[in-house]
Amino acid sequence: MSISAVQKSNSTIDSNMLRTGLKLCGPKGFFLKPYASSFELSCHYASTNPAANVQNLPRLPVPKLSETLDKYLKTVRPHLNDEEFSQTTKLAKAFESGIGQKLQSLLESRAEKHLNWLEEWWLNTAYLEYRDPVVVYSSPGLVFPFRKFTNQNEQLQYAAKTLLAVLEYKSLIDRNQIPTEMMGKNPLDMSQYRKIFGTCRIPGEKRDKLSYNDSKYVTVIHNNHIFHVDLWGEDGAILDEEQIKNQLKKVMELSKSRTDKGIGILTSENRDTWAKAYNLLIKDDVNRESLADIERSLAVLCLDAPVDVWKCPDKNARQNLAAAQTIHGGGPDSNGCNRWFDKTVQFIVGADGITGLTYEHSPAEGQPIAVLTDYIIQYIEQGKKSTTQSAKPKDPILLKFNINNEVTQMVTTAKTNLNRLADNLELNCFTYEKYGKNFIKTQKMSPDSYLQMAMQYAFYRLHQTPGAHYESAATRMYVGGRTETIRSCSIESIEFAKTMLNAQSSAKEKVQAMKNAINAHKNYTVQALQGLGVDRHLLGLKLIALENGIEVPKIYSDAGYIKSAHMRISTSQVACKCDGFMCYGPLVPNGYATCYNPRDNDVNFATSSFASNTETDCGKYRTALEQSLQDMHDVLLKSTQSKL
Ligand code: COA
Repeated sequence: MSISAVQKSNSTIDSNMLRTGLKLCGPKGFFLKPYASSFELSCHYASTNPAANVQNLPRLPVPKLSETLDKYLKTVRPHLNDEEFSQTTKLAKAFESGIGQKLQSLLESRAEKHLNWLEEWWLNTAYLEYRDPVVVYSSPGLVFPFRKFTNQNEQLQYAAKTLLAVLEYKSLIDRNQIPTEMMGKNPLDMSQYRKIFGTCRIPGEKRDKLSYNDSKYVTVIHNNHIFHVDLWGEDGAILDEEQIKNQLKKVMELSKSRTDKGIGILTSENRDTWAKAYNLLIKDDVNRESLADIERSLAVLCLDAPVDVWKCPDKNARQNLAAAQTIHGGGPDSNGCNRWFDKTVQFIVGADGITGLTYEHSPAEGQPIAVLTDYIIQYIEQGKKSTTQSAKPKDPILLKFNINNEVTQMVTTAKTNLNRLADNLELNCFTYEKYGKNFIKTQKMSPDSYLQMAMQYAFYRLHQTPGAHYESAATRMYVGGRTETIRSCSIESIEFAKTMLNAQSSAKEKVQAMKNAINAHKNYTVQALQGLGVDRHLLGLKLIALENGIEVPKIYSDAGYIKSAHMRISTSQVACKCDGFMCYGPLVPNGYATCYNPRDNDVNFATSSFASNTETDCGKYRTALEQSLQDMHDVLLKSTQSKL
């Protein structure tokens, strides 16, 4: 498809999107339609490769240079003084009339040759070349609703049901029966669903790679020992719940004591460090086979040790504990060694009732994982019984590793490093119970934009300075689409925060400032969903310069670029129907993360910051956020009452 054809297809993007946004529904939702029949052509491998464009989706556009730069100048304004702004404006104008034109035309040529000009670049720069540990810095946790297990049988029964739900869901994916998600009238790219199971990130020096596989077994980790557990019997029939439970029981019997030589901890390391250890390990045939076994499995199941979750004083404390367990396993002395962080999904079933998952972010966004979560929870709550039964289950196999002194030393260092990482992550996860999406809708406002502006207001009230603010918007209406950044900090959001904090402002002025801020955010969102934001385009222009040996233009080292891209608030809406939430670490040392699940009558928030940073304080940020939500609610009601 040519560029002009792309632009044509963009112009047909449904205008309802402004109101409806991304409709994500589980298999029983109302906004779903079955896959187009062409999708059914795909085999597992072909369908993980969007080059086939089996859904016949439009291609990610290259935005117009002048439009991106206009938008850019608006978004840098809150972060700059007059002198800095004048310098940034000068640089942007020089870029637009100078080297920017050449880069733009090179980027347009790339877009003609690739179905999605960004996809491979993004996978590499945002994930596979990123060298910090995936733990805390990249892989989110997802906390499922709490359970109370009083004995091992209950833990294993829940784990067996989770695996059966996973198999049922995978079978829907394989049979192309996951309904296509829609944004307004636009179907979304569903290829991420095919990358959830069987995928493993393999460490490499400078750049990791992804390995896509299909298999009939899972990796189970207990007491830091790693097992191969078949979910099909020798006769080719699938195991039923009781049989899977028995397999897991055997795993526990074979690993009664905890090993301090578990090598799973190495996957929590800096990626170059882990790559070095990996290269040492694979020199040995036994190790190579064991590593390949983990790589090919469908997913990991972590049968975790108890963490006294029911001794926590309240739900808030339980949520913090569970978030820590799903992000970093609570450090090496808790369940941090009972993990294989390279696997796309690891399901966590803790002995006393923390359940959830950790997911390696590179192959997919959080939303497909949240849809999977709702499926699992619904499956378990329905109390469905599996019907098939294999006559001949295969025994679990303990994976063996030959570990020399050098690797033992690396395991010790990895434990120290994970301890440090875990200690440094402050979490404050809570359910905001006073209202949810329904109240915001009654005010005729977009819930997402409203919540984003509450975060802007909270940050400003706490730090009295604008906070550059990242929100992910899905660009999955395009083939191979991932995300674009919504720059939530705007001239209007700062004006709103100032008006709210000004004791002299009337309720009417406050409501007007709120509406202006929400509308500005919504407008940016609509553009970002169409791939017309600032960040991915500027990234593309920079990468095309590097690829062509052109000096990176000055605009990228200027205060405007640096300050507006130093995302002090890193946020993402990950919506699931169950009472769960996703959680992750901040993007920058002096930043906060806020992942949120807005439900009809409440909102689950997971906030975090780094303990070592003296500027930030997660507890204070949470308080400011709650106060801001309360103030916004009160001023809206006050203004409605004064109209009556
Ligand atoms: N008045 C009344 N109702 C309104 C409204 C208004 N002015 N504006 C929106 N609404 C309604 C919508 O119709 C929608 O209704 P529904 O609950 O019946 O579906 C609901 O409010 C939510 O809409 P809104 O809050 O505006 O946006 P959204 O839920 O579509 O979310 C994004 C916006 C950007 C978060 C979403 O499009 C997206 O991209 N999500 C994926 C993010 C992502 O990738 N996360 C994972 C990263 S790892």
